[in-house]
Amino acid sequence: MKASYAGSSVRVSRKPGLKLPEFAFIGRSNVGKSSLINMLCGNSKLAMTSATPGKTKVVNHFLVNDKWYLVDLPGYGYAKLSAKGREEISAVISDYIRNSEELTMLFVLVDSRHEITAADQDFIEFLGKNRIPFGIIFTKCDKIGPNALKAMVERDCEILSQTWEELPPMFTSSSRTAAGKEEILNYIDSILASL
Ligand code: GTP
Ligand code: MG
Repeated sequence: MKASYAGSSVRVSRKPGLKLPEFAFIGRSNVGKSSLINMLCGNSKLAMTSATPGKTKVVNHFLVNDKWYLVDLPGYGYAKLSAKGREEISAVISDYIRNSEELTMLFVLVDSRHEITAADQDFIEFLGKNRIPFGIIFTKCDKIGPNALKAMVERDCEILSQTWEELPPMFTSSSRTAAGKEEILNYIDSILASL
């Protein structure tokens, strides 16, 4: 797989110019979006990661195999930012989601150690209202045992079933062990093949 950095933007009007399908990754700050992108691409230096939340503040595009973009979005729900900082990040995210015509699918990342949060559920509702196709990826599954992981996924399915008739596609992943890599890439390939 060939992946390279293609540019950063804070408004859709300034994103990289090629009209190619985009698969974007979002979730709370520090959930592991940038690490997951690096794991999928097999390049630990592609997207900048950090132990400090709020690292990614802009929309970063990575061109994959000259055919599609992986898009790293800033995290939502980072409490330590100033009100103005939070507003700007929300504006960047919602402009991209509402206005990017090439956005094909969004993956919402959820930390597999914790129940899906109110912020995640609000965000998923926003996606529903804007009719954006999405999937859920449970991250950092190396930090939790297989039984606890299964229980947490089931619990989150229960929570989501309270508002959603049909559940979205779901994946479990670890950027440490590369768990989930094949499943996520195969899923993206199947969508690309159907376009
Ligand atoms: P922001 O850009 O700040 O919103 O964060 P992000 O969601 O891009 O998270 P990032 O990939 O920077 O990772 C945050 C922290 O979690 C880093 O310290 C990573 O090393 C760690 N991390 C990410 N993914 C995993 C994983 O699968 N397993 C483990 N154990 N740690 C992970
Ligand atoms: Mg990041």
